[in-house]
Amino acid sequence: PESGGHSGAGSGFVVVANRLPVDLERLPDGTKRWKRSPGGLVTALEPVLRNNNGAWVGWAGVPDVDVDPIIEDGLELYPVPLSAEEVADYYEGFSNGTLWPLYHDVIVRPEYHRRWWTAYVDVNRRFAEYTAKVAAEGATVWVQDYQLQLVPKMLRMLRPDLTIGFFLHIPFPPIELFLQMPWRTELVEGLLGADLIGFHLPGGAQNFLYLARRLAGQPTSRGTVGVRAKMGVVQVGFRTVRVGAFPISIASAELDEYSRRRSVRERGAQIRAELGNPKNILLGVDRLDYTKGIDIRLAALEELLQEGKIDPAETVMVQLATPSRERVESYIQMRSDIERQVGRINGEFSRVGYPFVHYLHRPIPREELVSFFVAADVMLVTPLRDGMNLVAKEYVACHSGLNGALVLSEFTGAAAELRQSYLCNPHDLESVKEAILHAIGDDADTRRRRMRALRRQVLAHDVDRWARAFLEALAQDRVAGSALLTD
Ligand code: ADP
Ligand code: G6P
Repeated sequence: PESGGHSGAGSGFVVVANRLPVDLERLPDGTKRWKRSPGGLVTALEPVLRNNNGAWVGWAGVPDVDVDPIIEDGLELYPVPLSAEEVADYYEGFSNGTLWPLYHDVIVRPEYHRRWWTAYVDVNRRFAEYTAKVAAEGATVWVQDYQLQLVPKMLRMLRPDLTIGFFLHIPFPPIELFLQMPWRTELVEGLLGADLIGFHLPGGAQNFLYLARRLAGQPTSRGTVGVRAKMGVVQVGFRTVRVGAFPISIASAELDEYSRRRSVRERGAQIRAELGNPKNILLGVDRLDYTKGIDIRLAALEELLQEGKIDPAETVMVQLATPSRERVESYIQMRSDIERQVGRINGEFSRVGYPFVHYLHRPIPREELVSFFVAADVMLVTPLRDGMNLVAKEYVACHSGLNGALVLSEFTGAAAELRQSYLCNPHDLESVKEAILHAIGDDADTRRRRMRALRRQVLAHDVDRWARAFLEALAQDRVAGSALLTD
């Protein structure tokens, strides 16, 4: 029988995310064009979707446009419209003024506004209704990230025939922080509409299990959750929801191959020449976000310069920063702080024609970005908190020559896997400075040994393996579920 407004054949595999993999851009002359969306979620999921011939439901990145579905190369894109007011209240408000800072350890104070929450509920319902129309009978739907935590429950009510997975791309916070949330029970119950809930790390999964017991009053397993194994279980009435840890990754082999191309190598060498052939190129690549600790790495470098431990005649720093969430107050503030910091360091330590910090506030085309990774001697990844951080893995994938060093914050998900990086505590400036000096100063053999170990990890655990681990676990749910129904 037809269920809940579902019509026609539909898609058997549907990804639902706040953003589509492409963003509609309105040019000043009124014309429109598509460009790649920012962020790690799109980097990771795009290759997965292309390999699986699926449908993608998401927002086109601009308010008040109604765009028809686009079907290209076996990938179907279904744009969900948002009004300007919804962008302000649901996206900039509840998603990025409430959830993002709360889930990132309240680096910035989360704001709780009932009006934002109402918009979040309304927009989540719209995504659920839209997905219910796109998904085929018995389809698998994979809901992504913090913007859509109510969709699993809403979608299950509309379409009980679907198998629903949910993956959180950002950290799941400590219990005490999550308990601040005025709508904490609604969020936990929203997620429990899924058959499988995935986090990057076991710790997040365990926090969630505790909260499912405490807030939703459901019995749960109590054993420790493992990585891609030993999942937790929540009993929700007759349904069993599983909870697991699935650290995300990149298309490592493709990037490795790409970074070995002659054109990329040549451009890498050219970048070094354009920077004045310094001995050390330090690189940062981030969305301009306060979680990323761009200010911290700059502060560490400033002190190292002041103490004479880094010589500006032989070292340069390149910071590539994609604009992000530019109307949210905390982002406006942070941008001006960082730009002031860059100005101050350059004022103090640059020579004419040779700035110490090269700062680009724009997205860099993929090919050019890979050449920067190839050119960089030391990669600086210093977030105060990050769910995974794909940039760290991308840098490693681009160093088949084993030359290069990764400075990595302990507070990233990636640090759980990339143990051979130069780890640092971003809250401790001395620790960041030490890691930078080590990374620059270690002998070639040590650096090679460390890079080899990092590469083994990144190449063996790519995004396909991540997706397969999640989707296979989700498919087991389906088998288990149908066994239950037919028994
Ligand atoms: P987040 O998802 O929080 O932005 P990740 O490190 O997980 O952080 O993913 C960021 C993605 O965006 C990576 O694929 C990275 O290469 C890309 N990216 C980040 N900064 C830039 C930039 N300045 N130009 C182009 N791409 C960028
Ligand atoms: C992170 C989030 C994604 C988000 C991306 C870019 O990766 O986990 O959900 O899409 O940042 O942020 P934006 O707000 O521009 O979508």
